[in-house]
Amino acid sequence: MNTNKTARIIDGKKIASAVLEELRGEIARMRARNLVPGLAVVLVGNDPASEVYVRSKRKTCADLGVNSFAYDLPANCTEKRLLKLIESLNVDARVHGILVQMPLPKHISEKKILEALSPEKDVDGFHPVNVGRLLNGEECFVSCTPAGCQTLLSRSGIKTAGKHVVIVGRSNIVGKPLAALLMQKSEDANATVTVCHSKTRNMSKYTRDADILVAAMGVPEFIKPAMVREGAVVIDVGVNRIPDPTRKSGNRLVGDVAFAGVFKKVRAITPVPGGVGPMTIAMLMKNTVKAARQVPAKK
Ligand SMILES: NC(=O)c1ccc[n+]([C@@H]2O[C@H](COP(=O)([O-])OP(=O)(O)OC[C@H]3O[C@@H](n4cnc5c(N)ncnc54)[C@H](OP(=O)(O)O)[C@@H]3O)[C@@H](O)[C@H]2O)c1
Repeated sequence: MNTNKTARIIDGKKIASAVLEELRGEIARMRARNLVPGLAVVLVGNDPASEVYVRSKRKTCADLGVNSFAYDLPANCTEKRLLKLIESLNVDARVHGILVQMPLPKHISEKKILEALSPEKDVDGFHPVNVGRLLNGEECFVSCTPAGCQTLLSRSGIKTAGKHVVIVGRSNIVGKPLAALLMQKSEDANATVTVCHSKTRNMSKYTRDADILVAAMGVPEFIKPAMVREGAVVIDVGVNRIPDPTRKSGNRLVGDVAFAGVFKKVRAITPVPGGVGPMTIAMLMKNTVKAARQVPAKK
């Protein structure tokens, strides 16, 4: 047991706002040179969770002085129409980054849409070119949630070099890119990475060996205290809404980690909400500014 019961809460809100403040300065300098970073945010349909994410991304753009181009398409929008929109955004000089909010309606191929994006404007880092470059350790857009996890660790002074990082979840948007990121030969990485998933046998064997445990499964409070090593660092990526009759809304958000019990054992942990979530948006803004920075200066 962590005898003093004072695990550090890794405050994602605070770290994200520090990142955004740094960007604010850079954006102001860009604007003074008539370069206004622009992000196109495309939403198809009316999935309530997606609407919340999109609203928050657009609000952050407005707050920082990033031009936000909103494209809200109906749920019955055809794949062809969406591809045409992406084609036009790829060549629109005001747009430096393009984000297509996932998931898309079933009749649209997410793979086709992602592959249609210009890799230079793929600020979500999901295009195969960026995924491949990440794996190769080359300059690229790193997807926002994994980049957010890495930044949370580095800005909290938690070293990953030589550490055993265990990631539970192997999705293309979190688990796999985070594994690729943290195994790189670089100062903020150099970790020994294990990736677990639904077919992993005896998962506790791995999670209990983790110096840094990342939960990214989408299963409410799955990681119990017995699965975590004393003094480990825990990053909870999960965002799950569970029923809670004591709340006015009738529900509340929890992560993939049983926070109250795990908190007592660990050295540091991210809360849900207020951990990884705010970092994802901060990294999106960082990637958008990076995309704008890459625009050659006008003669
Ligand atoms: N905070 C943020 O900004 C942010 C961003 C993205 C996602 N999220 C949250 O992160 C969570 C994961 O998202 P995702 O998109 O990566 O999810 P996903 O695509 O559903 O992938 C979940 C992964 O977890 C594994 N898994 C599921 N149940 C498991 C179990 N019982 N034991 C072991 N592994 C299990 C799955 O294994 P298989 O591959 O074998 O099926 C899969 O690899 C969700 O709660 C999501 O809302 C948060």
